[in-house]
Amino acid sequence: MKTKVCTTSVCQQKTDCLLIGVFEDDFSLPLLKELDKHLEGGLSQARRSGEFSGKTSESLLLHTAGRLPAARVLLVGLGKRDACRTDQLRQAAAQGVNQLNKTRLQSLATTLVLAELPGTTAADRGRAVAEGILLAGYRFDKYRTDDERRPEQLPETILLLMTSREEQEAVDREIVGARHTLRGVSLARDLVNEPGNIKSPSFLADQARRIAEETGITCQIMDRKALQGEGMGALLGVAQGSEREPCLITLEYSGGADDQPPVALVGKGVVFDSGGISIKPAEKMEEMKMDMAGAAAVLGTMLAAALLELPVNLIGVVPAVENMPSGSAIRPGDILTSLSGQTIEVINTDAEGRLILADALTYVQRRQPQLIIDLATLTGACIIALGHHASAVLGNDEGLIESLRKAGEDCGERVWPLPLWDDYFEQIKSNVADVKNTGGRPAGTITAAAFLKKFVQETRWAHLDIAGTAWREKATPEGPAGGSGVGVRLLITFLKQLAATE
Ligand code: BES
Ligand code: MN
Ligand code: ZN
Repeated sequence: MKTKVCTTSVCQQKTDCLLIGVFEDDFSLPLLKELDKHLEGGLSQARRSGEFSGKTSESLLLHTAGRLPAARVLLVGLGKRDACRTDQLRQAAAQGVNQLNKTRLQSLATTLVLAELPGTTAADRGRAVAEGILLAGYRFDKYRTDDERRPEQLPETILLLMTSREEQEAVDREIVGARHTLRGVSLARDLVNEPGNIKSPSFLADQARRIAEETGITCQIMDRKALQGEGMGALLGVAQGSEREPCLITLEYSGGADDQPPVALVGKGVVFDSGGISIKPAEKMEEMKMDMAGAAAVLGTMLAAALLELPVNLIGVVPAVENMPSGSAIRPGDILTSLSGQTIEVINTDAEGRLILADALTYVQRRQPQLIIDLATLTGACIIALGHHASAVLGNDEGLIESLRKAGEDCGERVWPLPLWDDYFEQIKSNVADVKNTGGRPAGTITAAAFLKKFVQETRWAHLDIAGTAWREKATPEGPAGGSGVGVRLLITFLKQLAATE
């Protein structure tokens, strides 16, 4: 992917396909008029006939048959001009690439970065377009041997067209950044897509070691013995039903000043969630290999942050376990003693994520982070509340919650706040222990966060429930069905914005 400053009209660009964004309410742009002239009215005809109106997710492929140096023109709708954000640019870029992937073109040139949107710089637009293109190129087919095997494939040359040298320099930088970020997103997707038979807790530990090796950041793995030594009874309780050894992964990246306290990222790493003795129904249980998507987001973010050399200090913690039913598994009614000293009555062994996070949160606070963000596919209730269009955010600091909401809006990985009032804590009071691990049906996402809050002291903290956003049942232009890689672009955006305000 490269940039090119157009000295003449973009209509003169030689390429297999010219990808052009079109506003629904702005067909009179000079570029479109010129294009229409070259195509002998083909564009205005397509509009009159209703074949292409410029609405989002609409597209139209025209063969130029020698009337332009470009062999094809692919028009993608950007919707109404006023409603268009970088979101639409990213999606349009992804959609264009997807459509062209089918035809295996060698080269592509796009004018998408040129779309002047209020409140955006060329760099913002360049980043969005580059990310859209790279997201669309992702495939997970290492386990395919059949004809459907379609390796990651993008046209060999992709040109982002712009109008000035300054823009070009800025966008060139964003392309490099987008590549780093997408390494993190693709890693997160790969990890989520990896099947449970391969993906043990130690598999995740190996992945963390590989990240550390590549980037030079530090990696520490605590095994069962070490966890016992510390007294991580909640984490170990979940792990005890599985044949597989649990572990706690810590990655540390120092890109900020020595005296700057780290930002802590904690990710739920349940490599497979059968529910344990409170076993889940068979339907869709296969999807529970994704129950480590929080961990995947943390590992992907650590990789991307290190590659991007972000000026922040980071500590990433992943409690990795498998939740299985067996003769050695925890039972409903069992009482566990957490690392914090608080005792937990296990009402439902399927509410395991909060148990492992409790110990990970306690552990990471020893490092006195400036703030903690945890990510977890924590509750089915979150899908009921927000569906698949936003992650839930809850926490103890309004400013942090708002920063995450803004980062989400800016990068297209939306998050939406839910309240965490004291009233909800009633629901997780136990008769026999300090707290119980479920709060009943009402407000399941909130009572799960309320549970976590009991393990956070003074530190600023936000919890992201990504149960609805981490897994895609169907392909979208921005990626195939399966792991979405959610969290990586959100956290990278958040960390960049945090560094910029410090
Ligand atoms: N991993 C699940 C939550 C989940 C469900 C994630 C569907 C993604 C899709 C979690 O461990 C769980 O089982 N939560 C229970 C909690 C309940 C027992 C209080 C749930 O949501 O049903
Ligand atoms: Mn569960
Ligand atoms: Zn779970």
